Amino acid sequence: MHSPASRRNFLGCAATAALAASLARVSAAEPKTAATTPHGASGTDWPLIDVADEKALLDVLHSGKWGRTSGGARNREFETVFAQRMQAKHCIATSSGTTALLTALGALNIGPGDEVVLPPYTFVATFNAITANFALPVFADTDPASLQVDPTSVAAAITPATRLLLPVHIAGTACDLDGILAVAKERKLPVLEDACQAPLAEWRGRPVGTHGIGGCFSFQASKNLTAGEGGAIVTNDDEFAHRCYNFHTPGGGKPAPSLGRAANFRLTEFQAALLLSQWRRFEAQQTTRADNAAHLTQLLAAIPGIAPARLAAGNTRNGWHLYMFRYEAAKFSGLSRAKFLQALAKEGVAASAGYTALNRTPHVQALAKNPH
Ligand SMILES: Cc1ncc(COP(=O)(O)O)c(C=O)c1O
Repeated sequence: MHSPASRRNFLGCAATAALAASLARVSAAEPKTAATTPHGASGTDWPLIDVADEKALLDVLHSGKWGRTSGGARNREFETVFAQRMQAKHCIATSSGTTALLTALGALNIGPGDEVVLPPYTFVATFNAITANFALPVFADTDPASLQVDPTSVAAAITPATRLLLPVHIAGTACDLDGILAVAKERKLPVLEDACQAPLAEWRGRPVGTHGIGGCFSFQASKNLTAGEGGAIVTNDDEFAHRCYNFHTPGGGKPAPSLGRAANFRLTEFQAALLLSQWRRFEAQQTTRADNAAHLTQLLAAIPGIAPARLAAGNTRNGWHLYMFRYEAAKFSGLSRAKFLQALAKEGVAASAGYTALNRTPHVQALAKNPH
């Protein structure tokens, strides 16, 4: 076990946060002097870099093979490493989490007239991947205790037009996959996991991403594993993998019948190289995050009015992208959430009000009002 993080180390490196929440980045106890030691780029706490990252990028630069279509091997190497760790037969690296979702939905031939069930408590990209395919997003409710999608509500949202269930492991915590997979089985629907925030999170001892037909990940700048931008799809389904491959790189050549839909959603070799070098420290960082989260949970237990998001029993490992908790104003003399967040900020705690439920955003309401 790591020694408990000091208050300063714990909070000074906090990530962005959800629902008045914050979670420590990796421990700040690492010295920032030696170039061989991970240190924040440009004096920031995140991302961490060392000479191996520099070398990885320079090697690609000098090789002249900057993309997978120019013969670079880094995409393939990263896909192999990531697939193995995710216990997946296939991985397809993409330019972002959004394009991973677009690719997966394209490979599933989701289109006009189709409905896709998703939670409203997610980043807007989950919604956009559906509307960009001219399909209809249908919201299922959020379980207020876990802040994850409620499987009973998913079942209730299904209609004859439903083609896909798209649950999200929000904050890096696995949603109730037992419940969702049971609904999917009964209604004979595929499940695609939006695991953009959840690399290394596990449900009942198995990494998230392959519990349904596949899962999508993001390596955007705020994520625990990052190359600035980037994404990946994992799957154990050969046909789906080939379709995704051919979708994300036109003329991909994998043995799958063409659906007549494709785009260039490839990751560059620079990003793949950076992901490979960042990957070397990722497991250890996740362990530190878990230790920090456990420490924070212990401390918060002493404060009435703070309720950390409940973790379902199947959550055997948390991805800890964010630390979510509920704040009960009545227990803080009616202090408004805005003031509460201000007070936290003054204490150096990076916390935010979290996502706005998508159904309440102008972006989503514009679609609801669109008569066409
Ligand atoms: C739940 C969720 N889905 C999808 C995405 C989209 O990923 P990206 O920003 O890499 O396109 C994100 C990114 O923040 C996310 O958090």
